[in-house]
Parts: sequence; C-alpha cells; structure tokens
Amino acid sequence: MKKILILTLTLILTACSPTSEESGHMSGMGPNSTIRNMHHAEIPAPYDGIQSPVEADAESIERGKEIYRINCAECHGDGGMGDGQTGEQLNTPPAFIAHTSQMMSDGYLFWRVNEGGTDIDTGMPAFKEKLEEEEIWDAINYVRALGSGEVMPAESGMGGEIYDPEFERAHHQSMIDDALAGKYITQEQADNFMLVHEALNDYMVENDIRAGAKSVDEMQPEIFAALVEIGTLTQGEVDSFNEVHQLLLDEGLMQ
Ligand code: HEC
Repeated sequence: MKKILILTLTLILTACSPTSEESGHMSGMGPNSTIRNMHHAEIPAPYDGIQSPVEADAESIERGKEIYRINCAECHGDGGMGDGQTGEQLNTPPAFIAHTSQMMSDGYLFWRVNEGGTDIDTGMPAFKEKLEEEEIWDAINYVRALGSGEVMPAESGMGGEIYDPEFERAHHQSMIDDALAGKYITQEQADNFMLVHEALNDYMVENDIRAGAKSVDEMQPEIFAALVEIGTLTQGEVDSFNEVHQLLLDEGLMQ
C-alpha cells in the first residue's frame, strides 16, 4: 500500500523538476497559473530552506487533524483531495495537498500556509495572523499523514473524498498515453520512464526518504546517482528519463 502511494507521488513530482527559465516568474501569475508554476516559485526568506521544528508524532498529527477540520477542510476537502465545498467556487482550485505535501519542502508548505496565495492572487488565505506557528506545523504534519495513508480523514461536513492513490496513477498513465499518441515519445521512452520511476519509488520506500527540509524534487538527482552507483539503473536510463520529463514539461503534457 505504502509503495503504491509513493509511486503515485513521485509520478506527479516529476512534473516539478525546476527548469531555469521558470524561476522568478512570480509576478503576473493569475488564476490560470498551474500548480507546477506555484511549485517552482522562489521561496522567499525567511521560509527558504527551513526545517519543521515540530516532529510529526501522533500528538502533533492529532492536533493537526482538528486544526485542519476547522480551517482547511472546507476548501481542501476532508481527505486533502482539493474537493471541499467552498473550494469549488474558486478560480484556482485548492491544491490536492494530501499529495503535493509529500513532495514539497517544509519551507514551501509553511510559507504557503503562513502567507496564503495573496502574491499569486488565489483564494488560499494567509494563516499567520490566525494560527500559531506550531499549529501550522501540526496542520502540515496532518496533511502529510493523510497523503501517506498513515491516518484516515476526519469528517468536517464539508465533503471531500478519501485520498485515492489510484486517481493519481490513472492520471499519470493517461499523461504518458497522450505523449505516446501525440508521438512526442516512443514506446521505448515511455517504458523507460515508467521503469526509472519505479526504481526511484522503490528506493525511496526502502530508505524511507521523504520530503522535509528538502523537497523530493531537490533530492532526486542524488537518488538517481545512488541508483546508478549500485547498478539498479544505468546513466543512459536516467538521462532518457530526464529527457522525456523535460519534453513533457515543454509540451505542456505535465502540469
Ligand atoms: C478558502 C479556501 C482555502 C482554505 C480555507 C485553505 N486553503 Fe489552502 N489553498 C487554497 C487554494 C485555492 C490553493 C491553491 C492556490 C495556492 O497555492 O495559492 C491552496 C494551496 C495550499 C497549499 C499549497 C499547496 C501546493 O501544492 O502548492 C497548501 C500547503 C495549503 N493550501 C494548505 C492549507 C492549509 C493547511 C489550510 C488550513 C490551515 C488551508 N490551506 C486552507 C484554498 C484554501
């Protein structure tokens, strides 16, 4: 179960490798900006690079559950799928945070919850005046626990599905299918892409690698280097993966 979860996570996180031309595109991002752009935003000081001071233990997650039910579920949904009732009316849909929280860094998540989406004109409220710092970390710990399958959602009465890894998996399979149908990639490239993905996921599960001070995205080159070092993957396979990944981004097939 956990393996499937991580697999689907990393499938989406590959949409998030930074490319140089995208950094610094914060201004002018309106309701149409994609989650991918948001994930590539430059994290401002004092948030950049910070590490959560609140351990994700059972107590913190339990506190976070209540904070989330009261403050977040109406938009992000009980399960963190981005499908709460209030969220439906927003131009930029609430993020699928059960999932994105698995790959984004502590600093990014803490920044977004503290400052909200005011800089990019979205409906995400700023919580720094409303919640204590510790409460924000508790909520982040809870959201991450939701997405990793460690806890089941509490019912807020605002709706929302339980986190479903299959949903993401299907989404990503169809992305690869589109790329194939559009002849952007060959069958061989598609197969390699999936193979490298799986190796990445397995390695992360086996070594219990999770997003923290660094996003999974930032850790990815290191993980690939290790996989080549131990002989699980060849450099050629990794290069092909990165090439396809970039192509999917360029063609707008990944978001
Ligand atoms: C009024 C609706 C609303 C509420 C309430 C709300 N959010 Fe959001 N949230 C959004 C929207 C819309 C986005 C997507 C746009 C953005 O990132 O600014 C978002 C984005 C986020 C992100 C960034 C995720 C990503 O992948 O980039 C995080 C983290 C987040 N919310 C956490 C929370 C937490 C935790 C709470 C409660 C303390 C909360 N939100 C309450 C609407 C809401």
